[in-house]
Amino acid sequence: MIIVTGGAGFIGANFVLDWLAQSEESVLTLDKLTYAGNLANLASLAGDTRHQFVQGDIQDRALLDVLLARHRPRAIVHFAAESHVDRSIHGPEAFLQTNILGTFHLLEAARAYHATLTGEARDAFRFLHVSTDEVYGSLDATAPAFTEHHPYEPNSPYSASKAASDHLVRAWHHTYGLPVLTTNCSNNYGPLQFPEKLIPLMIHNALAGLDLPVYGDGANVRDWLHVSDHCTAIRAVLAEGALGETYNIGGNAEMKNLDVVHTLCDLLDELRPRADQISYRTQIRFVTDRPGHDRRYAIDATHIARTLGWQPQHTFTSGLRQTVQWYLDHQAWVQEVTSGAYRQWTDMNYGGRVAGAMGTGAAGLPTPESGMATPGAPA
Ligand code: NAD
Ligand code: TYD
Repeated sequence: MIIVTGGAGFIGANFVLDWLAQSEESVLTLDKLTYAGNLANLASLAGDTRHQFVQGDIQDRALLDVLLARHRPRAIVHFAAESHVDRSIHGPEAFLQTNILGTFHLLEAARAYHATLTGEARDAFRFLHVSTDEVYGSLDATAPAFTEHHPYEPNSPYSASKAASDHLVRAWHHTYGLPVLTTNCSNNYGPLQFPEKLIPLMIHNALAGLDLPVYGDGANVRDWLHVSDHCTAIRAVLAEGALGETYNIGGNAEMKNLDVVHTLCDLLDELRPRADQISYRTQIRFVTDRPGHDRRYAIDATHIARTLGWQPQHTFTSGLRQTVQWYLDHQAWVQEVTSGAYRQWTDMNYGGRVAGAMGTGAAGLPTPESGMATPGAPA
């Protein structure tokens, strides 16, 4: 069996569902169920004896030791993290606790467990650490994409905490011989993503008649990968990856944020037009930028393509259409996660942002006259 940390979150839940759809090998999901963890994401596994859920913190070393000794996994796939850059700016401590100290405790527990293994079980054991391209920092418009050899230059509390965790994983391999694998992936999108991240937030706000808050000039570039392609890549790395290696994973889909938002508006105009037939693009507002906002991320995924034969299956066009349709078909899920705590977050993150940072120019839209609307507040 395998243990998956953070398996009630966005990518972790997609991974667990995908894993059990493809394999008979059991999964134990360990998740603290923070605001981002949602057991409803795993509801379709109710009654499936191949899956067990344990609510717990990766900083709880005693719990980790018990779970490893009892279940004797052949792998740990480590997704659990605080994952949202804006939240890390408002409150970095939880990021240091979970992403750095949590990873440290998990590594230590894995090391102690690995020491008890012998023979084939020892050779087969893997610790796969799921990380992000944000550890490499920001690229200029024309700079080559990040390879695995790009220097680490994290700029946000989130990316700094993930960089620190990557370094710990590397060190536990070199110093203690723990059989680790690390993946650094670009921005994911797809079903089950919490509507605090760009794509689900824009879909949610558009349908709720709220402003679509584009930070700065909207020209920041991200590479986008459908979550199902990320899951396939992780399975490939777990199966065939070389010990101690790092694999960059990306979608060959660099997009400016404003272009992503325009595409989302156009898809919604087609699939769920507004009652007044006016485009959702009219809801776009340019707002005060994120502090330290990285300008561009881009991934060179040549290494994983050459060594493991992995390629993304979705294009951004096909993946985004499927994602928008998923959110339209799962509004009850969205309602559930956009509860009270989420409203407090949007008040805090967007309440203080000044709208109209870019005026009318880039989008050809009316200049907003008031501050950001927040869910639950009058527009
Ligand atoms: P998420 O925020 O949706 O989910 C994180 C999960 O971890 C939640 O279920 C949460 O309850 C759980 N968790 C948080 N703290 C915990 C703790 N102390 N102990 C146990 N569980 C805890 O995140 P996500 O977007 O699914 O990202 C998963 C991983 O992938 C993270 O490590 C993230 O850094 C990485 N990643 C994300 C992206 C992306 O675009 N979302 C891209 C590349 C890498
Ligand atoms: P996000 O989904 O938070 O991912 P990350 O910061 O990890 O890349 O943001 C993606 C991009 O979208 C990023 O450049 C910030 C921008 N953004 C907005 O313009 N408006 C928003 O409301 C959010 C949440 C993000």
